[in-house]
Amino acid sequence: MSERSFIIAPSLLSANFARLGDEVEKVIASGADWLHFDVMDNHYVPNLTIGPLVCEAIRPCTTAPIDVHLMVEPVDALVPMFARAGANIITFHPEASRHVDRTLQLIRDQGCQAGLVFNPATPLDWLDHVMDKIDLIMLMSVNPGYGGQSFIPSTLPKARLARARLDAYERETGRHIRLEIDGGVKPANIAEIAAAGVDAFVAGSAVFGAGKDSDPNRYDSVIAAMRAELQGVKQTS
Ligand code: DX5
Ligand code: ZN
Repeated sequence: MSERSFIIAPSLLSANFARLGDEVEKVIASGADWLHFDVMDNHYVPNLTIGPLVCEAIRPCTTAPIDVHLMVEPVDALVPMFARAGANIITFHPEASRHVDRTLQLIRDQGCQAGLVFNPATPLDWLDHVMDKIDLIMLMSVNPGYGGQSFIPSTLPKARLARARLDAYERETGRHIRLEIDGGVKPANIAEIAAAGVDAFVAGSAVFGAGKDSDPNRYDSVIAAMRAELQGVKQTS
């Protein structure tokens, strides 16, 4: 596998919603690469969060990519709304779409990067016939619906399988597809996750729970700690 850069994507789910614009600016100033934006509908998952209006509201706060994670069913109607609201990446759970190929195509037609999200028990087989329409894959290392849950260890062998698949695809086509992980990521486990082949890391509670409210640089040290852990990680391929 070629040299890869690591992406840190704090999940706004654990940010202070009363001061969301400030939180976005602070976390990007602290060295985050992407903003992870969790959309829950109280139908596909048992929780309700934020939609395109909030995405549009934070869009002017940063030029960093907004990584929209749709935990909604059905999926398609929200795709153009998030694209208009400034999303850069849109991922969805294949079980939640009637026509997975169509939804992937729709996301790209709207000018965004497209990705599939795999729950802990969802097999990677959903990739079989759509690799050419995918820009990234996200593995859930918790069951979707809440921040602050513990990392499910069986995600590590699954990440190694996904990485092997993506490397084979890259050798064949020259196209690099990112492997993202979401749930329970912290400085203590990020190196082990990277060693399994993951190159983009969502972290909600670990980032937004760090530091003191009064500290203007409260997210610097946790993001620096993650980057320090990632330095020198040997990837399996
Ligand atoms: C869970 C969300 C995650 C969550 C991660 O359904 O998709 O993005 O915010 O939060 P932590 O890092 O606290 O597990
Ligand atoms: Zn998420």
